[in-house]
Amino acid sequence: MPILVEGLGRLEYRGYDSAGIALQRKGRLEVVKKRGRLGELRAVLPKRHTATAGIAHTRWATHGEPSDRNAHPHLDASGAVSIVHNGIVENAAVLRAGLAAKGAVFTSDTDSEVLAALIADVFAGDLLAAVRHVLCGVVGTYGLAVLHRDCPGEIVIARNGSPVLIGVGEREMLVASDAAALIAHTRQVIYLEDGEVARLTARECHISDLAANVTQREAATLPAVIGDGDKGPHAHFTLKEISEQPDALRGVLRGRLDRRFSTARLGGLNLEPRQLMAFRRVKLLGCGSAYLSATIGAAMIEQLTRLPADAESAAEFRYRNPIIEADTLYLAVSQSGETFDTLAAVQEIQRKGGTVLGIVNVVGSTIARQCGAGIYLHAGPEVAVVSTKTFTNTLAALALLALFLGRMRDVSPAEGERLLDALEALPDQVQGLLDRADEFRRLAARYAHYNRAYFIGRGAGYGLAREGALKLKEVSYIHAEAYPASELKHGPLALVDPDTPTFAIVPDDDLLAKNLSSLAEIKARRGPVVAISHLASIGEADALVTVPRSHPLLDPILMLVPLQFLAYYAALERGCDVDRPRNLAKSVTVE
Ligand code: F6R
Repeated sequence: MPILVEGLGRLEYRGYDSAGIALQRKGRLEVVKKRGRLGELRAVLPKRHTATAGIAHTRWATHGEPSDRNAHPHLDASGAVSIVHNGIVENAAVLRAGLAAKGAVFTSDTDSEVLAALIADVFAGDLLAAVRHVLCGVVGTYGLAVLHRDCPGEIVIARNGSPVLIGVGEREMLVASDAAALIAHTRQVIYLEDGEVARLTARECHISDLAANVTQREAATLPAVIGDGDKGPHAHFTLKEISEQPDALRGVLRGRLDRRFSTARLGGLNLEPRQLMAFRRVKLLGCGSAYLSATIGAAMIEQLTRLPADAESAAEFRYRNPIIEADTLYLAVSQSGETFDTLAAVQEIQRKGGTVLGIVNVVGSTIARQCGAGIYLHAGPEVAVVSTKTFTNTLAALALLALFLGRMRDVSPAEGERLLDALEALPDQVQGLLDRADEFRRLAARYAHYNRAYFIGRGAGYGLAREGALKLKEVSYIHAEAYPASELKHGPLALVDPDTPTFAIVPDDDLLAKNLSSLAEIKARRGPVVAISHLASIGEADALVTVPRSHPLLDPILMLVPLQFLAYYAALERGCDVDRPRNLAKSVTVE
């Protein structure tokens, strides 16, 4: 039991709304589960337990509200089978109706519970056979672990679309959806692939597919540092990760600045120059902040390569039966490397013969392995639910890629050098902004009482405005919307008033005059204006954050830092749980 509770603790960062444990003991399954934080589960767990097999889960509600009865593990009505399940059983309603017709009783609103009932229904002494049989009739995704009261010391697991990895310990086998839960016990892991099932006992792990074809797989070794449960001197993981950005940037740049040829050195792309030169278009995909960073990266790539480049939400992309072109380079952006929609988009591209590279933080994650090539972000573990240092590192990684592809085309060595210089200067410039945290705290205190806000910008500044708005709404629950500054007068201006501040991205670039006239329009409606700019003064702004200059392509990185602080301190002012915002999960492994 202590191993399970400790493992759940290591997964807390992913966001959840209930937690539970099932233990197998003396021919019985005992389940304890509770809505709320892990502390609430701990309070009701038995003090001592001698069980040698168990499963545990933190749930993030998809089907059915967060509650004790919807929490995992689920038991079938007879108490014979217990399951924990990540993913969605899409044909749960049909399966439930079939079981209900045979008299089965359900106690939760979840799609997952049906799996326990089905396995109990077909079990005839062999748990693995029963799980295989049931999964052949399941439509949907699963990372599944199953206990049966009559199979002591045995756990059966299965994977389709949701990560599952086996930790090979000394005289023990562990299983988890995230390496962070295993690392305290072993670094030897076996990744289960889609369509595979496995029977685990303390000493053995037997992997096969649903048709019982056996698979032999060697264990891989996890990196020594995974998930960092320590906030250090910082009050929150969010602040810790904002503060780690200079080092994170050094991590993504390390060994990748090629001064000899004024380009980037990207060893993981696994593509020959001839293949890289054949691409006529670049398409980036991701979800949430990863998608927003991709919109800014697309602009960098387009500018330096003069190839059309754009970004799209991975979920939208995969559902519109996309045309996959052989001369398009696809890039999948993901911190966790486990986001279901991004993974599904990668698989759709590969199925149609396209080339897709991963821009991923977590080494060995599903998207990284599925792509097989790409650029690792090397931001270190990101624990807070909202992404901060990964966003910055994604922009730096995409700038490196833009430079690399650009230098194969028309970017001159001198221009390449300028970008390399600017990249090299970034960590210290970001540190300079971190040193101004007090200024940003005061700014946030001044604006935290508003209940709505606009964020505006143009070009990459619009991408940044979207990220600033997303960050603010995620952690402070202030309703924040982003618009291209040019769109204001086409509608959003209607809501500008003294109670609606606008945060404006105003770089000193070709569009400065246009941006200043947008600010004048807002001021004319008595809207408060906060500008993030290179300029030392802006008459139209009520408050101004002046950021250092960089290469124009890298401006978004430096302009982002004050927006991160704004969200962080506004959340604190409003008494919000900044590391674990309501309703959100760190890594969304369901559709
Ligand atoms: C926002 C945030 C999310 C993630 C999104 C994708 O702060 O963290 O929007 O960016 O869920 O996650 P990854 O990058 O793991 O694919």
